[in-house]
Amino acid sequence: MIRWGILGCGSIARKFAADLALVKNAKFVAIGSRSKENAQLFAKDFPVPHIHDSYEALVANPEVDVIYVASPHSHHHEHTLLCLEHGKAVLCEKAFAVNHRQAKEMISAAKEKHLFLMEAMWTKFLPHYEKMISFTNSGNLGEINSVLINFGFRPRTPVPARLFDPELAGGTILDIGVYNVFIAMSILGRPDEIDAHMKPAGTGVDEQCSVLFRYKNGAMAQLFSSFIAHLPTEADINGSNGRLRLTSRFYAPESTLEFYPDRMDSKQLVPFDKPLEGWGYYYEAKHVSDCLQKGLKESPVMTHENTLVMMQVLDEIRQKAGIRYEADL
Ligand SMILES: NC(=O)c1ccc[n+]([C@@H]2O[C@H](COP(=O)([O-])OP(=O)(O)OC[C@H]3O[C@@H](n4cnc5c(N)ncnc54)[C@H](OP(=O)(O)O)[C@@H]3O)[C@@H](O)[C@H]2O)c1
Repeated sequence: MIRWGILGCGSIARKFAADLALVKNAKFVAIGSRSKENAQLFAKDFPVPHIHDSYEALVANPEVDVIYVASPHSHHHEHTLLCLEHGKAVLCEKAFAVNHRQAKEMISAAKEKHLFLMEAMWTKFLPHYEKMISFTNSGNLGEINSVLINFGFRPRTPVPARLFDPELAGGTILDIGVYNVFIAMSILGRPDEIDAHMKPAGTGVDEQCSVLFRYKNGAMAQLFSSFIAHLPTEADINGSNGRLRLTSRFYAPESTLEFYPDRMDSKQLVPFDKPLEGWGYYYEAKHVSDCLQKGLKESPVMTHENTLVMMQVLDEIRQKAGIRYEADL
């Protein structure tokens, strides 16, 4: 059994805890919160033997093997380093860090300590994503010439503070744009040229961001993220033999794959095994538990290099669009 702790009692931590219960070789043993009240509220819904009212107490718990870092991305660097310093393996939420420098430090620390560390890019472990990769790799779409992705929603009130707070590295690009970047790079690889523009919210962080990737072979990716418009949240991969659409929400387990070999009315559903369990976090939690059981220090699926390249691309997008955080100074 791999013994899991969760750092931070926010909304994603709740979904992850629910899914962890489905993983046969994982056991949820400890929760850590900055407040006793929060930790107890969490433990009421997700009973757990160890309830800690500080992150320091959580990381010092000898009963914990691996910690899921579920704090805002502004704090992933600090909290991941805290876990690693105390000998804990880490699964860290996306965006992995605020910038490439932080990501490099986190990965170097894991290597120095011989500890497992992975970015929680859950999409990479979902059945529809795996099918998207095998479908495109086997040439069904022919030569891929463009990828078009949008992800947008108007947050419900009360609006979660972290979305627009510069201190918490708010804004669309690190929160949701990261999925657009991830899918585009999964298909076309690292872009040769990047252009990006944003519209700032009142707090200065991007409330909309438009990104263009260009490739030497002529391919392009157009990515759009928004906190002020409900968008279809679909992804289209266009090739010389047709189009593959990842239906809404393209990054999540409910997405389906539609192949259009010709015009709009030529739709064919692409079948794949879809054992939908829980919220979809089961797959990454199972993968990490399996890696730890095998004694791995790095995931062979979501590698350190994958994360570092993505952070470099995100840095360049932010630089082109004029999105700066304190951690960049
Ligand atoms: N994979 C996914 O599908 C997915 C979905 C949503 C979000 N995320 C990612 O998960 C992370 C957390 O998102 P969330 O929506 O769960 O956020 P959230 O609801 O605001 O929760 C974040 C938690 O982090 C802890 N925290 C530590 N330092 C904090 C600080 N200075 N300010 C605020 N909270 C702080 C708090 O827990 P305590 O008070 O208990 O310590 C808080 O409840 C983000 O990086 C986000 O991008 C991933």
